[in-house]
This record gives sequence, C-alpha cells and structure tokens, in this order.
Amino acid sequence: MSEIAAAQHIKPKRPHAPDASHAASVDPLLAAIREYWNAHIHDLAVAKHPVGTKGFFDDLDEYRFDKLRYLPQVVDFNGFRGQRLLEIGCGAGIDLIRFAKGGARVTGVDLAPQSIQLAQKNFALRGLRAELHVMNGEALEFDDDSFDVVYAHGVLQYTAHADMMAKEMHRVLKPGGQAIAMVYNRISWLHALSLVMKVELEHEDAPVLKKYSIGEFKKLLSPFFTSRIVPERFPVASRLHQGWKALAYNRIFVPAFNLIPRPLVSPLGWHLMAYCRK
Ligand SMILES: C[S@@+](CC[C@H](N)C(=O)[O-])C[C@H]1O[C@@H](n2cnc3c(N)ncnc32)[C@H](O)[C@@H]1O
Repeated sequence: MSEIAAAQHIKPKRPHAPDASHAASVDPLLAAIREYWNAHIHDLAVAKHPVGTKGFFDDLDEYRFDKLRYLPQVVDFNGFRGQRLLEIGCGAGIDLIRFAKGGARVTGVDLAPQSIQLAQKNFALRGLRAELHVMNGEALEFDDDSFDVVYAHGVLQYTAHADMMAKEMHRVLKPGGQAIAMVYNRISWLHALSLVMKVELEHEDAPVLKKYSIGEFKKLLSPFFTSRIVPERFPVASRLHQGWKALAYNRIFVPAFNLIPRPLVSPLGWHLMAYCRK
C-alpha cells in the first residue's frame, strides 16, 4: 500500500499483494515505467495553465475530448450511477472525473505517484470524491469480485506484463461486470503514417510501448467470458506538431482520409477499444 493511501487511512484490501513501491523495487522494468510516467504527464504539452491548477485540468480535458471525439460516444460516462468503478492507470484523473460526475463510485490507481497527486488535486478542485491509490495494476490490492466496472484506457500497452494486468482486471470484476480497455492498433493509419513520415508518436520513448493486432488483443483478453474489439480514433487535425509535416497532415491528409467511406477504413482505427464481460 502506498504512502498516499496510508495517509488517507485506507486499509490494505489484500495484505499479501505486493504494493507498488515493492513491485517497482524488485522489478527494474516496473521501476523504469514508474519513473518515466512520474516525469511525463500525459498531454502536458497542450496545457496553457500551470500544472495542478483548475485551468490545467480543464486544458487536459478539452484537448483529450477534442482529439478523442469518439470516446464519449462509445463510453457512457453517465451510465454507471451508483456502481463501483475502478480505473487502472488513471493519470491525472481526466476520465475518472467524468465517471464521478456521472454518479459512479470511483477508485483510481496508477503506478506513478505524480499521477495520483495530480488526480487528488483534480478531484479536490471539483469537490468530487474518489479513492485514489499509488498501486501496480499488475498486482491489485483489492479483493476478488470487488467492482462493477474496470476501465483501463491507454495503459495495457505501457505496462511490463500486460497479461498479468488483464488477469487482475478480470479477478477484481464482479461476475457479469464489464471491463473497458484501449490499446494501440499496430495495423492502423497512424502507425503506418508515422513510419512513412518518420514522425515519432507520443511516448514512443516510454520503457514499454506495445502495439497490438486485433488478434493479439483478443488473446490478451482471453480471461474474460466475452470480449468485443472495435477500432476507433480516425484522423483529426493535430495541435501538438509544428512544421511542414504538420501542415501537410492537417491540410491534406486529414481531409483526404476523412473523404474515404468509413466502412472501408474502419479496421484501421488507431485505438482498439475492448468491451469485455466476466
Ligand atoms: C498514457 S498514460 C494514460 C493515462 C490515462 N489513462 C489517460 O488515458 O489519459 C498511461 C498511464 O498508465 C500508468 N501505468 C503504466 N503501467 C502501470 C501499472 N502497471 N499499474 C498502474 N498504472 C500503470 C502510467 O503511470 C500512466 O499514468
């Protein structure tokens, strides 16, 4: 159990589960992942306001939901009122805030203490409640069958042992509960474009970044009774990149790609969304 959780007097749910600090001290790869995400706040480059202010969290929310226009259409943030929802790899809590506003009873965990400190500020600034813990999603400190919903958006691809995280997501879900996860699609328009244009994607320098085929993702999710995978995230103009490549991307590639009838390119979405049942 982390220092932060201890300070909040949250009792360890599974006393024998190794805590995040212990896991990172014995597994050098987890330690490197934790260090990387402590130093790299997701989407920091787009924030105009100082880190940790309300303006900062608003900037992150505005950018995220402009870039990921599909997300509120496929994840009903207001649809889990009264349900226990766990987010693994919650970062600064941008999505978790939306679930909390929708009435879910939310818990967020992240390997990086910096993420949890930001998420705590984000919730405090909005007067919303959440249980927030520094915790390794590969060894969750929660009992079996604890949550109605487990959400992990953009996390399985960055962890050391994705199979362990998938098993943990399944274990802590109640029977019949649902898991929602997203990984990157190796056979996608964005992966191909980055190779052709020789442009590095965000967090390519992270200690672990695995891109999946639909078949590989399905296999990862094999602990679940059912899993349905839907490619999402098609081109929208970029605010992050500058220069002629960004201009060509924004002015030529994005409009041209979006003229192609969607059914023809739908398997090539950059985000593979998974909807699973235990
Ligand atoms: C790309 S960020 C995504 C953050 C947030 N889910 C979002 O979509 O904005 C990946 C996050 O996963 C977290 N993470 C990576 N491995 C983890 C693990 N084993 N357990 C918990 N969190 C982990 C990182 O610390 C980081 O905050």
